Amino acid sequence: MSLKFKVKVPGTSANIGVGYDCLGVALDYALELEVEESEKTEFFENGEPFSIPIKDNFINEAINHTKKYLSSDIPNCRVNITKNSIPLSRGLGSSSSAIVAGILIANTFAKNELDIDKIADIAIEMEGHPDNVMPAIFGGMVLTACDEGETVYSILPTADNLCFYVMIPNFKLSTEKSRSVLPKAYSAHDAVNNIAKLGLLVDSFIKGKYDSLRFLLGDKIHQPYRFSLINDSDKIFDFSKKHNALGEYISGAGPTLISLNYDNDEFLEAMKKDLATLSDKWSIEKKTINKKGAEVYDIEEI
Ligand code: HSE
Repeated sequence: MSLKFKVKVPGTSANIGVGYDCLGVALDYALELEVEESEKTEFFENGEPFSIPIKDNFINEAINHTKKYLSSDIPNCRVNITKNSIPLSRGLGSSSSAIVAGILIANTFAKNELDIDKIADIAIEMEGHPDNVMPAIFGGMVLTACDEGETVYSILPTADNLCFYVMIPNFKLSTEKSRSVLPKAYSAHDAVNNIAKLGLLVDSFIKGKYDSLRFLLGDKIHQPYRFSLINDSDKIFDFSKKHNALGEYISGAGPTLISLNYDNDEFLEAMKKDLATLSDKWSIEKKTINKKGAEVYDIEEI
């Protein structure tokens, strides 16, 4: 008897302004895979050999890494990526979703030996910070604290009246490069700024009241150092303000930028027009929060 199943993991937007390395949200992007036991482990994309070499493939790396935590042996498998709407290296959690998919593949073959918190610990260990992998696993907006080997998290009961207008350029920015420009130490003033605003930002998302959203997104830990890596980010924030968005932030390590606003197609069209005046090709799409998180489904014994 061998196992066959499907895996679906959402994309994510991390940091959300002042929540550097601790706050993230799942958005309705998806990485979808079909998995079945096979003689050797191989990756395909819609039936064609996968373009990313196996050594650079985060799904494969996560399957192998997870084996260390399993008492049972797991088989080799054929993984077919049937859909990936998460843009790569754009700050929308593509590597985290691949890591989460790999851990779930290994755990499904191991008959769910690992509980969800252990899955989260492995994903955080692999990614190095929790703000993308946690919402990818649990869905929704997740705040996580990791310190001295302990992890505490909460899936926030966010209000449903907010849309994420995701603006993606035609250039990539690696997380490594985007982290390399950050200082090694911060002033107490900047740290306190983020601490106080993060508490109030979470309160605002839960209550669905956004009067001070732009002020509360005003980060002093990572965004000021990253704007220069994202061509026209200043102009795009200005467009968003001009068209009365509720606030703006850099998604994850960038280069994607996000405007937060109510559901408003006029806003979307106005932003589209302004983005078209820029030299890099910026797209914009309206996304909502994915509340389901990662799923393993259609499990069959064949
Ligand atoms: N919190 C991370 C960062 C997200 O800003 O570098 C990207 O992985």
